[in-house]
Amino acid sequence: MLRVVLPDAVAVEEAFADPPEAQLYPEEAALVRDAVDKRRREFTTVRHCARRALGTLGLPPGPVLPDRYGAPRWPARVVGSLTHCHGYRAAALAHGTAVTMLGIDAEPHGPLPEGVLEAIALPAERAWTRSAPAGTHWDRLLFSAKESVYKAWYPHTGQRLRFGDAELRFDPDRGTFTARLLAPPPARPPGRPPLPRTLDGRWLTGKGLVVTAVMMAPTAWVY
Ligand SMILES: CC(C)(COP(=O)(O)OP(=O)(O)OC[C@H]1O[C@@H](n2cnc3c(N)ncnc32)[C@H](O)[C@@H]1OP(=O)(O)O)[C@@H](O)C(=O)NCCC(=O)NCCS
Repeated sequence: MLRVVLPDAVAVEEAFADPPEAQLYPEEAALVRDAVDKRRREFTTVRHCARRALGTLGLPPGPVLPDRYGAPRWPARVVGSLTHCHGYRAAALAHGTAVTMLGIDAEPHGPLPEGVLEAIALPAERAWTRSAPAGTHWDRLLFSAKESVYKAWYPHTGQRLRFGDAELRFDPDRGTFTARLLAPPPARPPGRPPLPRTLDGRWLTGKGLVVTAVMMAPTAWVY
């Protein structure tokens, strides 16, 4: 799923079940000691995926610990993102020289629970979900795409976007979307390039899932 969506420069590891060989480092295990079994399993498997992806990048395995807002912390000069939902876990990692921002998300491909669309969508996005081609749960895709925007943007900028802070537009034929950022950007340290005002993403449905990815790279995406 996400392997298809992301370019070759990104190491993507996916799991559709929880492999028995997946293990946690003690400092990771401490974070989920009191968690329910479902949380412990997704947490463990997605870290197993992350360590495999690190290996693909030529980097040694190590614990994947969260920052204070939950974002996974990676070795220096690595960008990456994690996602898990029922029946699917994925890690996507890349060298910082190849990719500047990366966010991934997976959701079950079904309608959002009652009332959620109203809470997450801007008026133009709501209108789109009503008029878009049948066969795709556009409300769920919109939700997932916004999560990917958040996961790409926050680690790079330190800014936590709210659902109304980005307006999304989808291209149903190309499987792409664009997020226009509406929130004022955070101040940049001297010498750092200005932040983009749009982010590009790709999406795919299949196997009962919808997956989305947002990526910014110094050069065009190459597949
Ligand atoms: C944190 C959040 C993005 C997680 O998304 P989700 O669909 O609930 O869950 P997923 O399984 O897909 O992703 C969970 C993973 O996201 C990652 N994550 C958590 N917080 C993160 C953050 N601040 N930045 C980047 N990644 C983050 C973690 O790796 C987490 O897995 P882990 O806890 O096992 O390490 C979501 O719960 C959230 O709080 N969203 C904030 C609001 C938002 O999305 N706004 C949209 C702006 S346009």
